[in-house]
Amino acid sequence: MKKILALILSLALALSLAACGAGSTTASPNAGAASVAPSAASDLITVGFAQVGHESDWRTASTKSVQTALSKDNGFDLQFVDCDNDSAAQLTAVRNFIQQQVDYIVIDPIVSTGWDTVLTEAQDAGVPVIVLDRTIDDSDKYVTWIGSEFMNEGLASGAWLKAYAAAKGITELNILVIQGTVGSSAEIGRTNGFKQIADAEGWNIVDSQDGNFTQDGGQKIMESYCKSYQKFNVVVCQNDNEAFGAEDAMDAAGVSYGVGKDVIVVSFDACKAGLNEVVAGKFNADFQCNPLQGQFLADTIKKLVAGETVESKTFMAEPWYVSEDTLKDITYTNSINKEVTEPLVVTTQAIADASY
Ligand code: AHR
Repeated sequence: MKKILALILSLALALSLAACGAGSTTASPNAGAASVAPSAASDLITVGFAQVGHESDWRTASTKSVQTALSKDNGFDLQFVDCDNDSAAQLTAVRNFIQQQVDYIVIDPIVSTGWDTVLTEAQDAGVPVIVLDRTIDDSDKYVTWIGSEFMNEGLASGAWLKAYAAAKGITELNILVIQGTVGSSAEIGRTNGFKQIADAEGWNIVDSQDGNFTQDGGQKIMESYCKSYQKFNVVVCQNDNEAFGAEDAMDAAGVSYGVGKDVIVVSFDACKAGLNEVVAGKFNADFQCNPLQGQFLADTIKKLVAGETVESKTFMAEPWYVSEDTLKDITYTNSINKEVTEPLVVTTQAIADASY
């Protein structure tokens, strides 16, 4: 059954690629697989998911969201691999899925490059690939992508800091950054977006190191920052778990942080535990990255199975959370060069309780 389906998929891909021009250099994902042949209605749709790992609250919520949406009851047979933040293991997982001839492969790419060879193998085998969350930046051989605009998260955090510092009369910013996994699109977008504003404003980025999106990583980097630097008044943590680690390190070093204290804390993700820190005034701002992508993924696969065309990109809606009502909104030029004004949500306990 799988072999027949694979042959049909291969043929459909080959035909549509021939129609679209396989050598196209367009940045948009390969539209060929949008015409994937429908699966037999009675079959479960087999999906291999190569997940990044289990490094954060965000990741736990992402895994749960995909497992819930791609359940047997919903018509899926999900094969899940936790790649434990190991790029080689992730490539192996994808190759195993190709060999098994699953109906669809879903990849949340640990890093954004190094993908073209394996995606060519998937294409040659007629197995369509869907990219979830982080982006692949060196290949367009996938059907569609669903995730967050990380560059806008970084730009929004910079725009907020600029407006907040002005409102509080803070004229000098000495900033420490704890990056997420270097080379991941989440890290690249947040780093570049924030840096764009920092450079324009002449802020001093004192140091920027890789905390690997983990609590332990955030704690270790912040411990070393506290030993090395006397003068800093902002810590930007590229996810909540790193920020929890940074809090522990600052507590141990006797550094005060949060609303009205010495160090402004900026975080990303807005998981429940992160928003609790915003409510408590320990994080000044938290820029959401929305992990609840499972239903969008399930709907996309069902559309593809039905032979429908899907969008090449689906962006998650993401609010920006703050602890004080100092500012109502922020205005900045976003990643597609459009000036936008976006609201800031003053975080209540009810909002935190409702988060993932
Ligand atoms: O790719 C999304 C990022 O990866 C989240 O911000 C982080 O928590 C996760 O590990």
